[in-house]
Amino acid sequence: MEEIFPNVFSERKELFTKNLVPGTSVYGEKLLDHEGIELRQWDQYRSKLAAAIKNGLSELPIKPGSVVLYLGAAEGTTISHVSDIVGGKGIVIGVDISERVMRKFIMVCEQRKNIVPILADANRPWTYRDYFAGGQISVLYQDVSQKNQAQIFLKNSEYFLKKGGYGMLAIKAKSISQEKPVNDIFESETAKLNEQFNVLQKINLKPFEKDHEMVFCRKKE
Ligand SMILES: C[S@@+](CC[C@H](N)C(=O)[O-])C[C@H]1O[C@@H](n2cnc3c(N)ncnc32)[C@H](O)[C@@H]1O
Repeated sequence: MEEIFPNVFSERKELFTKNLVPGTSVYGEKLLDHEGIELRQWDQYRSKLAAAIKNGLSELPIKPGSVVLYLGAAEGTTISHVSDIVGGKGIVIGVDISERVMRKFIMVCEQRKNIVPILADANRPWTYRDYFAGGQISVLYQDVSQKNQAQIFLKNSEYFLKKGGYGMLAIKAKSISQEKPVNDIFESETAKLNEQFNVLQKINLKPFEKDHEMVFCRKKE
């Protein structure tokens, strides 16, 4: 077992995070003991962030103590691992538009005191800006299945992400167009980020996710 990033472990083909709430699993993942530390398995077929790490993410900007704005929290699968990584000194604000997923997500938040759930449309960042002071966010993470994915990301960056902060955008090509070639969609969505960001790395998420790319970027100073 090797700690590949702070609070992220790898053994053979599997990833794990250090469990912030020992004794609890979130989506049926296995728990195991490693030298007195409880680890939680992180499934790369269920989490695009885990898939990006498996496919060679060069640096993980989400670290112990980070303040993360996470758009598209869904039922809390990936964000629970982000919560493990940032630990007790960090905070993760999780936004989702769906009341149905929010019901499950709130149960995850009840166990994990470093996650703040917000039921809102990520297209409308001004509706949740009063929940936290703008400019404090060190990492913006987005995984929303919408046609205007880059636009949502840029809008939230303008409101909340500090200069020099990091972005991670999971692009789902098929939500943007069913007809256009997937690589053209990745290219045109990523090009939209250039006005605010320097793109550091683009990672295709095959074979864990079909037609998805993770863009890792840094906001210009
Ligand atoms: C693919 S799922 C996210 C999975 C999650 N990131 C994970 O790895 O555990 C996409 C989520 O985006 C949410 N979503 C779609 N449009 C949204 C919007 N405009 N604002 C906020 N959330 C949105 C959906 O409700 C859904 O839960």
